[in-house]
Amino acid sequence: MRSRRTILDYKPEKVNREKLLELFQHAAYAPNHHLKEPWNMKIYEDEARSEFGKKVVDSYIRLGLLKTLSEEKLAKARQSYDRFFRSVPHHVLFYMNKEDDGGYLDDENFAAVCAFIQNFQLAAWAEGIGTMWTAKPTLLDEVFIGDVGLSPIKHRLVAVVQIGYPNKIPRDRGRTPVQQSIEWIN
Ligand SMILES: Cc1cc2nc3c(=O)[nH]c(=O)nc-3n(C[C@H](O)[C@H](O)[C@H](O)COP(=O)(O)O)c2cc1C
Repeated sequence: MRSRRTILDYKPEKVNREKLLELFQHAAYAPNHHLKEPWNMKIYEDEARSEFGKKVVDSYIRLGLLKTLSEEKLAKARQSYDRFFRSVPHHVLFYMNKEDDGGYLDDENFAAVCAFIQNFQLAAWAEGIGTMWTAKPTLLDEVFIGDVGLSPIKHRLVAVVQIGYPNKIPRDRGRTPVQQSIEWIN
């Protein structure tokens, strides 16, 4: 738990599919209410990465996240995003089915998918495999949800997680003493 770092820079080789499946199966032991196992994944690899990256960047533009960039800088940013998306062996889009239109049951399922993701991150790290959990307003962008073949009425996106063998491991920036976040009540 302490040594895992979020990885931005990956080696080009893919993680073997059997290994990924084994790690996802470990992750599925995440707590989840009524054993709904609400996690679903779309995994983008090889040629599909660029197209997926383009949809993500289109969403950033639609949402105004890149609005400070000039036309020229935006074109450069697109190229640099494309290089990033092609540099990561696997991009996993996590999503779940909506049950009660953003209500409490959906929150429970969202929490379970997050537990799954962290289980996966830790199991992967134990095998020398790096991950990056990303979440941006794009996950709520209805056009993006449609672009990836899902429905904003039926589905909720949870995260995009990058996976691969780390090329560079960032330094540990530490954590504050957890005591600061606790109120002991006797
Ligand atoms: C819900 C969620 C969203 C995140 N979104 C991003 C992101 O968009 N970009 C990013 O670089 N890291 C993202 N992270 C990773 C955090 O930045 C990272 O965990 C934090 O900086 C601590 O670094 P560490 O994981 O190496 O300990 C996200 C993590 C979580 C849990």
